[in-house]
Amino acid sequence: MAARMMRAISVTEFGGPSVLRLCSDMIVPQPRHKQVLIRVHACGVNPVETYIRAGTYARKPTLPYTPGTDVAGVVETVGEGVTAVKAGDRVFTTGIESGGYAEYTIAAEDCVYKLPDTLDFTQGAAIGIPYFTAYRALVHKGHSKPGETVLIHGASGGVGVAACQLSRALGLRVFGTAGTPGGMNLALNNGAHMAFNHREDGYTDKIMAVGSRGQIEINPRDVMAKESSVIGVVLFFATPEEKRECAAFLYTGMETGWLRPAVGSQYPLDKAAQAHHDIIESPGAAGKIVLTM
Ligand SMILES: NC(=O)c1ccc[n+]([C@@H]2O[C@H](COP(=O)([O-])OP(=O)(O)OC[C@H]3O[C@@H](n4cnc5c(N)ncnc54)[C@H](OP(=O)(O)O)[C@@H]3O)[C@@H](O)[C@H]2O)c1
Repeated sequence: MAARMMRAISVTEFGGPSVLRLCSDMIVPQPRHKQVLIRVHACGVNPVETYIRAGTYARKPTLPYTPGTDVAGVVETVGEGVTAVKAGDRVFTTGIESGGYAEYTIAAEDCVYKLPDTLDFTQGAAIGIPYFTAYRALVHKGHSKPGETVLIHGASGGVGVAACQLSRALGLRVFGTAGTPGGMNLALNNGAHMAFNHREDGYTDKIMAVGSRGQIEINPRDVMAKESSVIGVVLFFATPEEKRECAAFLYTGMETGWLRPAVGSQYPLDKAAQAHHDIIESPGAAGKIVLTM
């Protein structure tokens, strides 16, 4: 039987956004044991995918590769031994085997979750990395407790909106920052009690220094005097058990309604390079950036 073809982004060299090239003659992969073939409708664009594409990240995929891990779509077929989902199910993923910037992708069964009817595919593509990272930071690493206060820098992006919604669900007092009035409103509409503009002088000069997009200088005496902790978070290190716990909590959010991904700019698959440029270079985040197929 002749192989089926699909459109997908293929990266053959590391570099700027232009290395994200659309190919229309990629072979649709076949699911193996415990794998699921998904017809992709939307795929989340995450900053880490730009670092990996640039070749500057600690983990480098073997070339050529197709980026993207957070897809939402419909199960096309399943491999042998799959019981959690079946053909026709609406699903989202938290990891994939063959790359999500594509019309079809393969995911391991344990990274595939049913997408509730209340969420559309673009929202489904905004769950994986953003919500699982927010949960890891707030619960597994931050050990947040109801009544505590959290400051979310960059509350208007994919992880930030997720962190605002999650923080409120956990009973926290939530301060969020964004770089525009629209972004601040987004934070307020998604759970923040107060919002600040991190592009204004003053108080924000201090908080602008925090985060993974720049250097930070810390005076150990300040940390000591407040018995403060500085904790790094990497979603990649989450164990299967931690992911199951996280998924259970997030599912409750989808069912009860507090988990509502805010989708911002949408780009067709052939504009993936533009999406990579904009997620890093265009200030004024307004929710999750997704590709649609
Ligand atoms: N450790 C992990 O496992 C992990 C997992 C996921 C994400 N991350 C990291 O978390 C960050 C956010 O990811 P995301 O998907 O939410 O990205 P995003 O959707 O692009 O959102 C970026 C957010 O950061 C704000 N921002 C931009 N420049 C800023 C600055 N200089 N100071 C403070 N805020 C700034 C943006 O607001 P304005 O555009 O309005 O300025 C926006 O709210 C990225 O650095 C990403 O690499 C880490």
